[in-house]
Amino acid sequence: MSYTPRRALITGASSGIGAAFARAFAARGADVVLVARRADRLDSLAAELGSAHGVEARTLVLDLAQPGVGAILAERLGPAAPIDTVINNAGFGTRSPLAREDPALIEREIAVDVTALVSITRAFLPPMIERGRGAIINVASTASYQPVPGMAVYSASKAFVRTFTEAVWHEARPAGVKVLSLSPGPTRTEFFDVVGTEDAAVGAFQTAEQVVNTALRALDKRSTPPSAISGAANRLSAASVRLVPRRLVLDIAARAVAGPAHR
Ligand SMILES: NC(=O)c1ccc[n+]([C@@H]2O[C@H](COP(=O)([O-])OP(=O)(O)OC[C@H]3O[C@@H](n4cnc5c(N)ncnc54)[C@H](OP(=O)(O)O)[C@@H]3O)[C@@H](O)[C@H]2O)c1
Repeated sequence: MSYTPRRALITGASSGIGAAFARAFAARGADVVLVARRADRLDSLAAELGSAHGVEARTLVLDLAQPGVGAILAERLGPAAPIDTVINNAGFGTRSPLAREDPALIEREIAVDVTALVSITRAFLPPMIERGRGAIINVASTASYQPVPGMAVYSASKAFVRTFTEAVWHEARPAGVKVLSLSPGPTRTEFFDVVGTEDAAVGAFQTAEQVVNTALRALDKRSTPPSAISGAANRLSAASVRLVPRRLVLDIAARAVAGPAHR
């Protein structure tokens, strides 16, 4: 059974995994609301989806690093055409030892990766629970399965996303609302351009479409699981972390993101 949203809100839809979610849902006939900062990117994707699938594609330009974004989005959209599916996908990573991180940048990282995601989930979940239908996918990362020295803020942010989402999965399940934490491994998007290096990519790359297909398979199940990891190798490595002593996990993770010269 394939899950078809009526109207899906997708953050970070100007690129990568978010744009792939928008294309996949529009292909299933869903109207979409595309959120990010780059208006030109959002406008051209909205035009593409409208003409390819005849769906309504609306764009909302918003910096998700500001406080209260859940309420801002809910207010801008209004009650007329309710959102039944949310993809909290916008996010970015930084890679430096914490002592050398830019303090302002890591505050933005937590604001976008964590605070905005919680705010949007909090704003859009209650009406879904009331209607007894809906879905929220929060994009975590395989970095959520172990702390990553050199990416301490990013890996901790994604661990928050996964833990938070799994708890909300349990809370929302009795009402029939699907909640999923999606963990991609390295994926061919603009993510590593923003990080500034591909050294931090651990494992084989997937495409954004492969990641979205993992999410859709989970969403299409009658009983959607709390978490999905994209890619068999990524699932294996996330599982093996639990068997290895913590000091060794930290050493391996540090070496893995340090880049080939340091491995
Ligand atoms: N690619 C990977 O290897 C990988 C692996 C694991 C997890 N992830 C996660 O997957 C998600 C999507 O990333 P991606 O790989 O598709 O990277 P991407 O191509 O860089 O896309 C990131 C998206 O987030 C949006 N965004 C960033 N900061 C924002 C802000 N302040 N306000 C609004 N939107 C903002 C960007 O839009 P604008 O710049 O237009 O605002 C863009 O649409 C992220 O949460 C990332 O952490 C990625």
